[in-house]
Amino acid sequence: MASLHHRVLADLGRALSLELSAVQQYMTQAGLLAQWGDQTSADRFRHEVVEEMQHAERIVRHMLKLGVAPGSSQLQPVVTAGSLEELLRGNSRLEQSLVDHYAAATDFCVRIGDTENADFFRGLLVEEQAHGQEVFQWLAELMSPSGR
Ligand SMILES: [Fe+2]
Ligand SMILES: [Fe+2]
Repeated sequence: MASLHHRVLADLGRALSLELSAVQQYMTQAGLLAQWGDQTSADRFRHEVVEEMQHAERIVRHMLKLGVAPGSSQLQPVVTAGSLEELLRGNSRLEQSLVDHYAAATDFCVRIGDTENADFFRGLLVEEQAHGQEVFQWLAELMSPSGR
């Protein structure tokens, strides 16, 4: 195995923090939506919780494979709001920060010739881009005249 650049290690740690922040945020929001009586949206958020948890698990396993102990630093404060629309806007920002992080991490790995980690980050980048798109579409549905 090629030597692991300290920045790649830091990027993995930050990735874990962001993914766990997403788990915490969507879990909280699913609870909020259930309280508001919107079970359909709550279920959609619970599905997101599982996806973000699987991302966190993928990072943990990848770090173990690299021989490092997973250690996320700080979780971001949860974004709560008074309406589904505001929650989704907050989530759009969170997904964007994941996309930005994975794009930068992938670029760095490519630059230093670390293909294994470039591939790893790129896989997550593609999935977060899809998440961002889903949030965007959900918001668009909500804002359309036929939306709720
Ligand atoms: Fe994720
Ligand atoms: Fe995501």
